[in-house]
Amino acid sequence: MYTISKELKKGQSYDALIVGIHEKGEFPPLLQNVDQELDGQVSELKKLKQLHTKKGELTKVFTFGKSSAQVLYTIGLGKQADFSLDDLQNIIGQVVREAKKGKLAQLAIDVDSFSIANTETNEIVHIISESVELASYVVDTYKEKTNEKQFSLEAVTLVGEKADEEWEKAALGGRAFGEGTNLSRKLVNIPGNMLTPTILAEEAKKVADKHGFEFDVLEREDMEKLGMGALLAVAQGTDQPPKMIVLKYQAKEKWEDVVGFVGKGLTFDAGGISLKPGLNMHEMKMDMGGAAAVLGAMEIIGQIKPDRNILAVIPSSENLINGSALKPGDVIRAMSGKTIEVRNTDAEGRLILADGVAYAKQLGANYLVDVATLTGAVLIALGNSTTGVVHNNKEWYAKVEEASERSREPVWAFPTHKPYHDLLKSSDVADLNNAPGRLGGSITAGLFIGEFAEDTPWVHLDIAGTAWTSKKTSTGQPGGTGVMARTLAHLVK
Ligand code: BES
Ligand code: MG
Ligand code: ZN
Repeated sequence: MYTISKELKKGQSYDALIVGIHEKGEFPPLLQNVDQELDGQVSELKKLKQLHTKKGELTKVFTFGKSSAQVLYTIGLGKQADFSLDDLQNIIGQVVREAKKGKLAQLAIDVDSFSIANTETNEIVHIISESVELASYVVDTYKEKTNEKQFSLEAVTLVGEKADEEWEKAALGGRAFGEGTNLSRKLVNIPGNMLTPTILAEEAKKVADKHGFEFDVLEREDMEKLGMGALLAVAQGTDQPPKMIVLKYQAKEKWEDVVGFVGKGLTFDAGGISLKPGLNMHEMKMDMGGAAAVLGAMEIIGQIKPDRNILAVIPSSENLINGSALKPGDVIRAMSGKTIEVRNTDAEGRLILADGVAYAKQLGANYLVDVATLTGAVLIALGNSTTGVVHNNKEWYAKVEEASERSREPVWAFPTHKPYHDLLKSSDVADLNNAPGRLGGSITAGLFIGEFAEDTPWVHLDIAGTAWTSKKTSTGQPGGTGVMARTLAHLVK
C-alpha cells in the first residue's frame, strides 16, 4: 500500500495530496508546483488569509483536473520551532480520518513539508506510515448493520526529495508498528464473552503461525503438574479454563540472552469474592491489556525480525465468582514455592503474573518486562497519560525508558525503598500478602511481582491508566490504546 517517490508521478492520479504548511515562510516546493498548476490560486488563498496555518487547521482545495491530485489538503503546522513528532502523529491522524470521511482512497503525502529540525527524514517517514495505520483502525461493532463494508485506504504515496530504499524500509517499519498497535487495540476492545482465555490463546496462535514462532499453551493439568498454584487459584472461580500461552521468537542459534515479555491476560475482572462495584465494571474487559501489548509487540517483531531471542508468556484467566472461588484469607502456593495469603481476590493480576514470571524464567528468560493493567492506584498517581514503572535494575530500566521515548509512550518509575518491601511481608501465615493496603498501592503491587523475578533484571509496566481511553483521539476512537506494544518492540529492535 505504500509507495515511495521523489515526485508526484505524471500521468498518475491521486485522490488527495496532503501538504503541511508552517505559520511563516514560503510554500514547500511541492506546493509551489501545485500552485503553478492551479495558476496561483493557492497563493491567492494565502493572500485572502484563507490558507490556515495554525497547528491542526485544515484547508481543502479542489483542483478540478488541473493537478494530478483531485483534492489538495493543506494542514497547518504552527510555528516550525514547536512542531513535534507527537504533533506530526496527531496531524497525520487528523488528515487521514478527514480523507477517509471524504472517501478518498489514494493519498499522496508530501513528506518534506513535515520535516522537523534534528530529526532524520527516515523517522518522519516511520511516524507518518505508523500514524496512517493508527488512524485507519476502526473498533469492531456488533450491530445489525455492522457488516457494511468499511471504507479503507488503497494506496499511500510518500513523496520527498530523499526518497530511497531507506525510506521504503522506514515506511514498512512504521506500518508494522501501526499494525501491531492496532492488533493490541483490537484485542482490548473485544467483549469478555468473545475473548475468553481460550480465544485469547487462539488469537496468539494466529500471530505465531503468521510469523513462524514456536507456540505452546499449558492447560490446567499442565499447570497442576508445574505447581502453578497462583494462576490456578484465580481460575478456580470461573468455568472458563485458564491458559498459559507461550510464543518464542528465536533469532540466534542458541537460546540465550533471552528477553522475556510477560503480559497479564485477565480477560474479565469482576474482582472475585472481593467484588468490584458495578459502575464501569464493563470496562474490565480491558484487563488483558498487558497480554494485548505483548501480542502487538510480537506482531511487530514478526514483521521487523530483530536479531534477538524473545519469549512471550501470557497467563490468562477470568476473575469471577462461583462456588469454588478463591476467598479472602486463603493461602496458596505459587510455582516458585512462595506462599501467598490472599487478602483481596481483586488483587488477582499479581497472582497470575507470579506464575507467569516464574515460568518465563524457567523457559530461559534472562531479562524480563511484565506489562499489566495492575492497579487503580496508578491512575491516581500518574493519571492516564503515563505508564507506571517498578523495576529491580537501573540498566535494564534505562533501556526500557529509551524505548518508551522512541515510541513516545511516557513512563515513570516509582521509588522502591525497603519500607515498601516490608509491606509485602505483612502476612502472619504466608510469605507474601497480596493486598497490603491502599498506601503506595502501585508500588507494592509491582514489588509483589518482583518477588518472583528474583535476581533477573526486571521491569514492570503498570498500564491500568494508559491502556484505555474514553476520549476520541486524532489517531483513533475511544477504547484500547495499544499502549506499550511499540515500546516493547523498540526495546528489542
Ligand atoms: N484490573 C484491576 C486494576 C485496574 C483498575 C485496571 C482500573 C484498570 C483500571 C486489578 O486487578 C485490581 O482490581 N486491582 C485492585 C488491587 C487492590 C485490590 C489491592 C485495585 O487497583 O483496586
Ligand atoms: Mg482485580
Ligand atoms: Zn485485574
